[in-house]
Amino acid sequence: MTRYHPLLVTLHWLLAAMIIGGLVMGSNVLAETPNDDPAKLVSLQMHMSLGIVILALMVIRLALRLLTTRPPHADIGNAMVNKLGQAAHWLFYAVVIAMCASGLAIANMAGLPGIVFGGSGAPLPADFSMYPPRAAHGVLATVLGVLILGHAGAGLWHQYVRKDGLLRRMWFGNRSE
Ligand code: HEM
Ligand code: HEM
Repeated sequence: MTRYHPLLVTLHWLLAAMIIGGLVMGSNVLAETPNDDPAKLVSLQMHMSLGIVILALMVIRLALRLLTTRPPHADIGNAMVNKLGQAAHWLFYAVVIAMCASGLAIANMAGLPGIVFGGSGAPLPADFSMYPPRAAHGVLATVLGVLILGHAGAGLWHQYVRKDGLLRRMWFGNRSE
């Protein structure tokens, strides 16, 4: 087995784009828009919808990851670094799911489903800082950003410095060649 399952590959790149989009828009647009700005509702609508789709796809991806055959773990000749790489992959699932869970918790505490999607017309709270999951959501965003930079850096190092063709494993093609 030399490549991940094509469905896992599709979801990997789709989720990568969605998660990076959620992080960039979340910190640069959503969190920067005051809650009394009428544009906040649209921004929340987009962010929350994207977040919920990410959660659903990430859970499906986790199930597929457990059910499908995959290439053996990449071996760079150092047992500790190999283990770190494997741990980082599992950490991704945990952090992305925790990110979505904390987002949903803020939304529930602030009554956002009714305000953002139900058209209740109720005002948003002045800000979300009084809800403890808001702080967790911010810290997790930083952790996730660092994980992504490290992961992408490691992938590019494999590909262009070590030249072991690792990126091929997360792309489409004959899985047994
Ligand atoms: C939000 C962004 C990303 C997330 C959440 C993510 C997540 C993951 C996870 C969990 C795996 C382990 C395999 C699995 O469980 O299916 C993986 C593998 C991989 N990712 Fe990412 N990834 C992201 C972005 C990227 C980027 C930008 C690159 C570009 C270099 C990349 C390249 C790879 C490669 C080459 C593998 C295969 C590694 C191997 O075969 O051991 N990923 N990714
Ligand atoms: C992987 C999925 C998600 C990512 C990457 C993400 C990312 C972010 C980021 C980067 C911020 C700004 C953090 C800061 O600057 O401190 C943020 C804020 C927020 N997110 Fe998410 N989020 C995700 C999922 C969700 C979900 C599922 C919901 C709710 C259904 C949600 C609701 C919120 C709310 C209410 C805020 C606060 C906005 C504010 O303070 O004005 N997020 N998110």
